[in-house]
Amino acid sequence: MNNLEMRVCGDPILRTECTPVEKIDAELLHTLDTMVEMMRAQSGVGLAAPQVGITKRFLVMMTPDDEKVFKMINPKIISRSEKTCIMEEGCLSVLGGDNLPVYANVSRPESVVVEWTDENGQQLSAEMSGVPARIVQHETDHLNGVLFIDYLSGARREMVMRKVRRHKK
Ligand code: NI
Repeated sequence: MNNLEMRVCGDPILRTECTPVEKIDAELLHTLDTMVEMMRAQSGVGLAAPQVGITKRFLVMMTPDDEKVFKMINPKIISRSEKTCIMEEGCLSVLGGDNLPVYANVSRPESVVVEWTDENGQQLSAEMSGVPARIVQHETDHLNGVLFIDYLSGARREMVMRKVRRHKK
């Protein structure tokens, strides 16, 4: 799977419920590495499998402060704080007419507990808050066919969708 191609809004793959990874093999490890490269090349902080055309449950993400990279296989958010916060989000799959990500404010839980399997097959869990919590929620949503624009409504959604419609595939 060497030719991973970025998928953008309108591609049905982005709306697909992804299936669990059953085994960690060389192909998966290679794909994860390639996704980290793609994420960095596009100055992103997260990239989920369906964004590169694979309907399996895995993602890569980076915590912006320390640039720590996480490769998460079958990630699952097991708890969410009641407290929410608003942050600006963008997505490498949601582009405007200028071919750059479109941004919008989204409200989500401020902190979450996430469980995942890492690339060595180890079961891990972490409580994340602030920006990392935001990233992991956005990326795990991708595995369920959900995009951040789904949280927008009314005039804000219309404004964002107008920009997205200007994007030429
Ligand atoms: Ni995204």
